[in-house]
Amino acid sequence: MRKPMIAGNWKMCKDVNEAVELANEIKRSVYDVENVEVVICPPFTNLSDVGEMLIESNIGLGAQNCYWKDEGAFTGEVSTGMLKSVGCKYVIIGHSERRQYFGETDETVKFKIKAAIEKGLIPIMCVGETLEERESGKTMDIITAQIKGGLEGFSEDYIDTLVIAYEPIWAIGTGKTATPGQAQEVHAEIRKILSDLYSETFASSTRVLYGGSVKPENIEILMKEEDIDGGLIGGASLKSDSFTDLIKSTASLYAEKKG
Ligand code: PGA
Repeated sequence: MRKPMIAGNWKMCKDVNEAVELANEIKRSVYDVENVEVVICPPFTNLSDVGEMLIESNIGLGAQNCYWKDEGAFTGEVSTGMLKSVGCKYVIIGHSERRQYFGETDETVKFKIKAAIEKGLIPIMCVGETLEERESGKTMDIITAQIKGGLEGFSEDYIDTLVIAYEPIWAIGTGKTATPGQAQEVHAEIRKILSDLYSETFASSTRVLYGGSVKPENIEILMKEEDIDGGLIGGASLKSDSFTDLIKSTASLYAEKKG
């Protein structure tokens, strides 16, 4: 059974003091949760301090982005080796905000996934369609192109740690969540794409998270869907209460599912 993951994407929020305080609160409230992989992804400037606090905790540290070169004249960029050195285990790649505002493409996603894997980081690859694409019936084409493009040339053994996050752009930060049915439909399609590209085993063991206005009020109905393995959480990860609620609901649902 796939272990669920709840990953908090703090985006460009929290200075270092606020970040350490929030991480500490989360750490204290979820110390006994075992069956959910909990990840927090603070801004770059806070990774080192938050990372130190999370040593020997059950929370993993993730970054929100990376560059694919090891070092050199790339002003403003951060390498995967640097992320590793401050304790990161995960890195979000190709978030829609990176694609939308910073020109990331399926090709740069592919380079970044490779750079992450080479350094032993778990890539959380984001895919998702715009409202216009959904309304014109192109959702599955977009998702297929993003997955094929981002994973081009990789064998299933090479990407065996990969996590995919399906985040419909129209649902991010808007308060509009995809209905569980809408999300499940795309998640099932993602598994089918992975099965066609790789194998049934790979498709059924890869975790696919949902992201886009996930909150304590809707996590349960989303998590009940067969192919939803957790969430990539923006807004609701910025407060320890709501983030902790999400983690605990996921943990008890998982226990129920396992029977
Ligand atoms: P949201 O963001 O939960 O605030 O909608 C999700 C994300 O962008 O990862």
